[in-house]
Amino acid sequence: MKPVTLHTLRDLKQQGRRFSCLTCYDASFARAMADAAIDVILIGDSLGMVVQGHGSTLPVTVADMAYHTAAVARGNPYSLLMADMPFMSYADTGTALTAAAELMRAGAHLVKLEGGAWLADTVRQLTRGGIPVCIHLGLTPQSVNVLGGYRVQGRDEAAAQQLLADAEAAVAAGAAMLLLECVPTSLAQQVQARCPVPLIGIGAGPHCDGQVLVLHDMLGIHHGKPARFVKNFLAAGDGSITGAFRQFHNEVQDGRYPAPEHGFAG
Ligand code: KIV
Repeated sequence: MKPVTLHTLRDLKQQGRRFSCLTCYDASFARAMADAAIDVILIGDSLGMVVQGHGSTLPVTVADMAYHTAAVARGNPYSLLMADMPFMSYADTGTALTAAAELMRAGAHLVKLEGGAWLADTVRQLTRGGIPVCIHLGLTPQSVNVLGGYRVQGRDEAAAQQLLADAEAAVAAGAAMLLLECVPTSLAQQVQARCPVPLIGIGAGPHCDGQVLVLHDMLGIHHGKPARFVKNFLAAGDGSITGAFRQFHNEVQDGRYPAPEHGFAG
């Protein structure tokens, strides 16, 4: 199988075809994801919660991200690998360049940063330096203390307009991809209508080009009530881990996932 690149995702977007993305943190799951033809792997800083057991993503360091990125890269020669820049690793452009270089050396193909228009210069500098960037908008977990909790974003008109402006600024600065988390389906549809680069959603409805879920969530491993957009693909598949990944990939491709009940109203 030919490895997935940004070019592959741009082609899929042009053809109106959907792509799959899962978070992953180690070589064994990464191998199973290659076997299931998962298009994109996100080495997410969610590892701070689901692997390290913290209550948020804030304690995760660049060294943690590089360690897990290298493990995933060793296990998966197929998927496009996107690594999260952890909390405060891109507070200024110089810091961002150093941190991003470490993640790319560990095996990432692009990096993801949480934030809006204020990141435009950093996006420009990273891109100029050969590092493609995905900008994460909507619910940005590294800002949980500013947001006052993990809640749906962009519900009022001012917040929706701000998000649309942030998306536009990110693309103008050269962002190669956008990711929207926990926003109303109607707002994600508006972003998609203006978005020339691949758009990944989580809790953002069916209009995005790709869908991402956290590995543990989609395997049914969570404490308490899962978020509305989570679906247990281990139960939906053939009972195997690789089967769960294949089921997710197929349901994203043919539009069965996300269903209307997985989205949020405005
Ligand atoms: O870290 C992560 O897993 C993420 C996803 C929730 C998109 O950023």
